[in-house]
Amino acid sequence: LASIRVDISAVAPGTQLTVLWQGKPVFIRSRTEDEIAAARAVDVSELPDQGAENENIIGDADASDENRALSEDGTWLVQMGVCTHLGCVPLGEQGDFGGWFCPCHGSHYDTAGRIRKGPAPRNLPIPVASFVDETTIQLG
Ligand code: FES
Repeated sequence: LASIRVDISAVAPGTQLTVLWQGKPVFIRSRTEDEIAAARAVDVSELPDQGAENENIIGDADASDENRALSEDGTWLVQMGVCTHLGCVPLGEQGDFGGWFCPCHGSHYDTAGRIRKGPAPRNLPIPVASFVDETTIQLG
């Protein structure tokens, strides 16, 4: 699969960059301390989808924020911008959990992109991604 490199140097904390990759939107978000803290305070056993849904992790991993964030400090979250219900593009910084909200049928995702309420069955998928250097992320 073709990989692309994305310059993230202009992505300020609390904002996200949306890039198209393989015909689909990918959200690259620089999370605030509050967003990270909210995501890390969640008890995984209470989540509808308790799997990390992270292609970078081989085997089973739970949906803890640590298993979803790209950077160890939790700042960077990279995920597909495709609702796991029927594929609409969720809107950022909206919904009951301060993460993403899909307006098509009302799915609420939290600040780690995990489904919390609504018809979507799975967390937003995390594609293969890595840091090339401090300001460049490679997808694929
Ligand atoms: Fe997102 Fe239905 S496509 S809630």
